[in-house]
Amino acid sequence: MNTSAAHLTRATIHLDRLTRNLRLLQAEAGAAEVWPVIKANAYGHGAVAIARHLAGLGCRTLCVAHADEARVLREAGIEATLLVLSATLPEQAGALVAARVEPAVCTLETAAALDRAARQAGTVVPVHLKVDTGMGRTGIRPEAVEAFLAVCRDLSAIRVRGVMSHFPRADETDKDYSLAQVERFRGVVAIARRHGVEVAHLANSAGVLDLPGSHLDAVRPGIALYGLRPSAEIANPRVNDLLPVLEWKSRITFLKEVPADAGLSYGHTFRTARPTLVATIPAGYGDGLSRRLSSNLEVLVGGVRCPLVGRVTMDMSLVDVTALRGRVALGDEVVLIGRQGGEVVSADAMAERLGTINYEVVTCIGARVPRVVAPPAASSAADALD
Ligand SMILES: Cc1ncc(COP(=O)(O)O)c(C=O)c1O
Repeated sequence: MNTSAAHLTRATIHLDRLTRNLRLLQAEAGAAEVWPVIKANAYGHGAVAIARHLAGLGCRTLCVAHADEARVLREAGIEATLLVLSATLPEQAGALVAARVEPAVCTLETAAALDRAARQAGTVVPVHLKVDTGMGRTGIRPEAVEAFLAVCRDLSAIRVRGVMSHFPRADETDKDYSLAQVERFRGVVAIARRHGVEVAHLANSAGVLDLPGSHLDAVRPGIALYGLRPSAEIANPRVNDLLPVLEWKSRITFLKEVPADAGLSYGHTFRTARPTLVATIPAGYGDGLSRRLSSNLEVLVGGVRCPLVGRVTMDMSLVDVTALRGRVALGDEVVLIGRQGGEVVSADAMAERLGTINYEVVTCIGARVPRVVAPPAASSAADALD
């Protein structure tokens, strides 16, 4: 991860907004413990800085997807409990034990391999049994839980500490499917408790916000912690109080007047309709600014919405700043995601242009874009914690 400030295209991370979002979600979760999901480089926000901040706020458990994400956090000195959410192969057992994680398990092969690796290391590994109550992805079927736990009882170097499941449709207006899933999971939890399992967890961000019956012992919000809504269908009005943690900004490195009918960038897919002032920014698909945004996005310059023109290239993109003639200069800030003056360009708006979701937009911001933590004072008064 590039954390230097040399690249002129940067993601600014507002940790005070993360604090606020965590508090909001904790209030919604009630007695359930919040286990933030920081996989995929904390949804593109920079996993180490996010993990440190959340641990400092008292989060005792953080969720990652893969063993290697856990290794990176351990090497950075993160000592929180790390839950590895994705299915793993038996061959990864040694790495999981070495990273001192609590892995999700959904095959007896991996459970047995973890048991062997833990015994070799002279330790006992807490694991979380993953049950598919309706996601249709990883996890054992609810009717297999009893037998699975019975086998695990004989694996003395693993301890099934948790039972978990995941929602596929909690972000939809119609909650019938999710409510049925909660009931199915509660049946699983009853069995698991008889086998000494301590913690049950199911809720993602949408579950935290819209399905209080799913909160159980712990909740695993991701997207909402970063201040982004899981979907436009969330009913809980508190979703409007979440504050986006990430802003994505660049600077103008070149400015040029071009005549009418000039072809711009590769393929000349854009031709100027009139004399045009074109700004170049050092942000392209190599930074995660999708090529599908070519002539298909508005960014902010001087508080004004200005269109991207021509193809987004690997390292550079062009912005029509004709509206700012006489008021724009080399070095000026260009906002791809964030606020400038009274205007906002959001990850949701970019996602809509791309036909995707805000999750993908922020997660795909490239590795060469430094994640720079904003000083607390950089947040406006409107964003102050209440
Ligand atoms: C198992 C699991 N739990 C929780 C989450 C967090 O989901 P969200 O970002 O929608 O809150 C994810 C993310 O995909 C996940 O895979």
